[in-house]
Amino acid sequence: MSGNKVEVDKRRTFAIISHPDAGKTTITEKVLLFGNALQKAGTVKGKKSGQHAKSDWMEMEKDRGISITTSVMQFPYNDALVNLLDTPGHEDFSEDTYRTLTAVDSCLMVIDSAKGVEQRTIKLMEVTRLRDTPIVTFMNKLDRDIRDPLELMDEVEQVLNIACAPITWPIGCGKEFKGVYHLLRDEVILYQSGQGHTIQDSKIIKGLDNPELDDAIGTYAAEVREELELVLGASNEFDLELFLAGELTPVFFGTALGNFGVDHILDGIVQWAPKPQARETEVRDVQPEDEKFSGFVFKIQANMDPKHRDRVAFMRICSGRYEQGMKMHHVRLGKDVNVSDALTFMAGDRNRAEVAYPGDIIGLHNHGTMRIGDTFTQGEKLRFTGIPNFAPEMFRRIRLKDPLKQKQLLKGLVQLSEEGAVQVFRPIDSNDLIVGAVGVLQFEVVVGRLKSEYKVEAIYEAISVSTARWVYCDDERKLEEFRRKCSTNLALDGGDNLTYIAPTMVNLNLSMERYPDIKFAKTREN
Ligand code: G4P
Repeated sequence: MSGNKVEVDKRRTFAIISHPDAGKTTITEKVLLFGNALQKAGTVKGKKSGQHAKSDWMEMEKDRGISITTSVMQFPYNDALVNLLDTPGHEDFSEDTYRTLTAVDSCLMVIDSAKGVEQRTIKLMEVTRLRDTPIVTFMNKLDRDIRDPLELMDEVEQVLNIACAPITWPIGCGKEFKGVYHLLRDEVILYQSGQGHTIQDSKIIKGLDNPELDDAIGTYAAEVREELELVLGASNEFDLELFLAGELTPVFFGTALGNFGVDHILDGIVQWAPKPQARETEVRDVQPEDEKFSGFVFKIQANMDPKHRDRVAFMRICSGRYEQGMKMHHVRLGKDVNVSDALTFMAGDRNRAEVAYPGDIIGLHNHGTMRIGDTFTQGEKLRFTGIPNFAPEMFRRIRLKDPLKQKQLLKGLVQLSEEGAVQVFRPIDSNDLIVGAVGVLQFEVVVGRLKSEYKVEAIYEAISVSTARWVYCDDERKLEEFRRKCSTNLALDGGDNLTYIAPTMVNLNLSMERYPDIKFAKTREN
C-alpha cells in the first residue's frame, strides 16, 4: 500500500478546456517541451508544416490536421508525473471531450485574451462543475493586443461563476509585452520574443521595487507598480482550499506561442492541483491508495491502427496498480479477463505498459466487449459512477440506401452508441431512427463505420430536433400520463431509456413548466 502512495502522490492528471483557436494545441506542445517529451516544440499539430501530431492515429485525422479522439500524454515535470488528456476541440469535438473531463483531477482553462470567455469554454466548464473539478486559468496570446486583464477576470467570474486569483500579472501586451509579475514569488519575469521553440532562461528581477526593473522596462515599471495596487484591491488572494473545491481559479498570463508563462502554469499544477482523487462507486468510495486494482472505461476509440481493426478502451486507473499480464474482473460481464498488452501513452507514443498507477490511463484492446463506464476490479463487485452520457446537441434522421438492412443498421447504431461515438433515438410514434451527437464530425464517422464494419450504407436527412433530455419520474402514473400526452416528442435511446426530443428550446422549457414532476436530465449514467 505505501509503495502505491508514493506513486499516487506524484501524479497529476489534467485536461485542457478551451474554445477552438485559443491555443490548446500550442500549449500542449510547449508543455511537452518542458516535459522533455518533444525535442523541439511544434510537432503536435502540423496544419501547415505537414507534420502530424504524435496523437494523430486515424487517417481522417491526418487529412484534416486535427485530432479526432482523445489521446493521452504522460511526462515528468519536476518531481511529478503529469498525465495530460487531450480534449478534441475543433470539428472533432464530441461527447468524448465531455467524458474525458470526468476522468481527470483538474483542468487547465485556456482563454484567448483578445476574446475573453467563449461559447465552448462555457459548455466545458459546465461539465467540470459536475465534479467541482479544480480549474487553473491561462490567459493566452499576450503578445497580441488584448482586453483589459481586470475586465477579463471579471468576465470569467461573472460568466463562469468562479472567483479569480491572479498569480501572475502582465506588464504591457502586444509588441510592448514585457513579461509578468509573479505575485506569490514577488519577482518579475521578463519576456523575450522569438524564443517560442525553446525553453528560455528568463531574466528574473527580484522584488517589484527593485530599481533594476526601471532599467529593464523603463516607464512600464512605474505603471505596473501602480496598477498592482489596484489589482490587489480588486481581486482575490489565492486560497488552496477554495481552489480544490472548484470555487476559485488561479490565473496566469502569457503567450503559448512565445512559450512564456507555460512553465508557471505547470509549476502551479504540480504544486496545487490534486493528486489522483478518491472515486465514487455505487458501494463505497475507492481510495487511490487501496491495494487492489480498479479502474473505469471513459472512452472507446476504434481503428487506431488501420492494420488491425481493433478498438481501444481507455481506462482510468483508480486504485492499486496495473501490471502486465494481470487478471482483471470485468464487473458488468462478471468475467475475468487477462490483460497482457495494455498500452500507455508516453507523450503520444503507444507503448506497452509494464506498470501503471492511479491517475494513469491505459489502453486495452477489445473486440466489442467493453462499454463506456465499465468498471474493472480484482474481483470486487463495484461500479464507478460519474461517467455519464451527455445529451446530444445535434440531430439527424438516418436512412438506409437499402431498406432491407434495417436490422443491421439498428445493431450497428446501438453498438456505436455503446462505444460513445453517437447516440441513437427511436421515436415511440414512428419508425424513424435519429442519430444525436455532440460534435458534427461524429455523423461522418458513424456513416463511415456503418459502411466498413456493418456493411450498411446510410445517409442523413435534416430533422427539426434541437435538444434531448432523459426523462424520469418516481410516480408511475404521472409518467404514464406524460408518455401519453407527449408521445410525439418521446423516444427510446440505444439503451431503451425514455428521452424527450425537443424541436426547440422553447418547447422544452414549456414542457418542463407544464410537467413539474418529470425530471428532464441533461446527463444519464449507464
Ligand atoms: P487550439 O488548439 O486551441 O485550436 O489552438 P492552436 O494552439 O491551434 O492555436 C490557434 C492559433 O493561435 C494558431 O495560429 C496559433 O499559432 C495561435 N496562437 C496560439 N498561441 C498564441 C499566442 O500566444 N500568441 C499568438 N499571437 N498566437 C497564438 P494559426 O495560424 O491559426 O495556426 P497554425 O496553422 O499556425 O497552427
